[in-house]
Amino acid sequence: MKIDIVSIFPTFFDVLDISLLGKARQNGVINLDVHDLRDFTFDRHRTVDDTPYGGGAGMVMKPEPWGLALDEILGITEGQAQDDQAKKPADQDAPAQTDADAATTAADGSIPPLVIFPSPAGDVFNQAMAKELAHEDHLVFGCGRYEGIDQRVFDYAEQHARVRLVSLGDYVLNGGEVATMAMIEAIGRLIPGVVGNPESLTEESHEDGLLEYPSYTKPSTWRGQEVPPVLLSGNHGAIEKWRYEQRVERTRRVRPDLLPPE
Ligand code: ADE
Repeated sequence: MKIDIVSIFPTFFDVLDISLLGKARQNGVINLDVHDLRDFTFDRHRTVDDTPYGGGAGMVMKPEPWGLALDEILGITEGQAQDDQAKKPADQDAPAQTDADAATTAADGSIPPLVIFPSPAGDVFNQAMAKELAHEDHLVFGCGRYEGIDQRVFDYAEQHARVRLVSLGDYVLNGGEVATMAMIEAIGRLIPGVVGNPESLTEESHEDGLLEYPSYTKPSTWRGQEVPPVLLSGNHGAIEKWRYEQRVERTRRVRPDLLPPE
């Protein structure tokens, strides 16, 4: 899988050099590039934000650096970019782009990259979405900061790629970096060849709608606490039954919303 990340904090993603994802990068299973948005600016201060039209608190990310970053990553030629610009005046009164207009297939019939903008206003990320995204060939993560990115950047991206706003949950982060990191870890480990023992993927929370069972290892007694005897019994049927009951019980207690209505 090819992954591109655009951020004003590229070093934030240095940790993707280590652990399982680092190994997957070394092995060529994941081809990941991080792009500094400020490399697409031309002024002395490498400015990426400005005050919002219409007033309001905070700053908005300027469209120009984003446009150039997307051009480079998506392989949009100068000609295409200018064509789009030339179209603008006539289109100005046109209604906002709908999903039907979005670039869901490229001119050559191939599926264009999926550009994900982490945003508290997006679809909420979960394991099902991670599974779906693990099948993509090319993901681009656009990390916004401040009060967000100029809306025209999303509209421009939709002309050349598939675009999705994705939220990590119902809370507000300072920017898209932490959300991108979480998504890449959740998606990356589902790509064949990233996790050494694929069986470990099927025995986890959220895999089948239930949370995972509690795990124990040696020693069998630790600080006065015993491992549940059934796990030492060697009776695989009984162990499987106990683990399933633990999963149901834990899900009922912690996340009853995951269980089907009774
Ligand atoms: N950026 C700011 N808050 C966010 C959230 N909850 N999810 C994804 N991106 C964000």
